Amino acid sequence: MPRVEVRLLKNLDEFHQCERIQTLTWGAPGVTSEAMTAAAKYGGVLIGTLVDSKVVGFIFAFLAQYHGHLAHWSHMMAVEAKYRDRGFGFNMKMVHRQVAIERGIKSICWTFDPLQSRNARLNISRLGAIPEEYVADCYGRFPSLLENGLPSDRWVLNWKISTTRVALRLKGDARPFDQGLPRVNETKLNFQGFPQNRSIKLDLAHHNLLVETPVQTDAMRTKAIPLARRWRLEARRIFQHYLAKGYHVDDFFPPQSSTGGRCFYLLRRQA
Ligand SMILES: CC(C)(COP(=O)(O)OP(=O)(O)OC[C@H]1O[C@@H](n2cnc3c(N)ncnc32)[C@H](O)[C@@H]1OP(=O)(O)O)[C@@H](O)C(=O)NCCC(=O)NCCS
Repeated sequence: MPRVEVRLLKNLDEFHQCERIQTLTWGAPGVTSEAMTAAAKYGGVLIGTLVDSKVVGFIFAFLAQYHGHLAHWSHMMAVEAKYRDRGFGFNMKMVHRQVAIERGIKSICWTFDPLQSRNARLNISRLGAIPEEYVADCYGRFPSLLENGLPSDRWVLNWKISTTRVALRLKGDARPFDQGLPRVNETKLNFQGFPQNRSIKLDLAHHNLLVETPVQTDAMRTKAIPLARRWRLEARRIFQHYLAKGYHVDDFFPPQSSTGGRCFYLLRRQA
């Protein structure tokens, strides 16, 4: 059995391995080992998953201010592709939360692509983090293998690590999927088996709304980039529209039998 450790990373060799994972994930290292050294020493964190002493996943976070409060800004997290979906991402977030609590930090913030359903599953439904802002083309055009030339839209998440909501989510508390809720978008599968929107409603006013997003965004960006671009713009329009009307993202449902193998965001507006 391989030996798996999740812990703070401390030395230059480990930081170099994080650069290697960045190159595998995005195509180039966006954060150098020098920046990691400074962040790890002066208030930020580097956390890694090591399999038989080799770093296969990492989190890089620096000290920041969000809405006037001290926070950890978790600028990067990646797990090597062949090690994904084994809970390594979740376990690194658990270690980060513990370290942050010990340092008196109450929020860990980061951004993620709203169309990456794996990230939405981990961040929103498992960790209980809440998207607070939708930022269109957040980082401008940057050479990311994952983006494949699309505008870099992002949710800005606030993970309020000491709240009851988060504690319940971490215990496995999950909201059941209600397939009867009104849907903002109706989709159909195209000839390649990818979903595409066939209608979008921007005049709904119910308290809870479902927004469907694709399950396999990476495959779509490789095999059907015009459709992926359309999803980017349509999802942006939907989320910006309903956020401006007072809705917020309350949950995310990953593909499961109750959702018919599809993914949905739950938007909610207070009564
Ligand atoms: C995001 C990332 C770090 C997650 O790491 P990970 O180790 O795979 O995460 P976990 O295994 O803890 O959690 C993944 C969850 O997504 C689920 N999942 C997998 N594919 C999915 C999909 N297509 N749609 C929805 N959920 C999916 C997994 O089943 C798992 O949920 P579960 O624990 O309930 O089974 C990793 O996927 C990655 O490196 N992605 C590329 C870089 C990136 O996007 N980084 C984050 C933004 S900076």
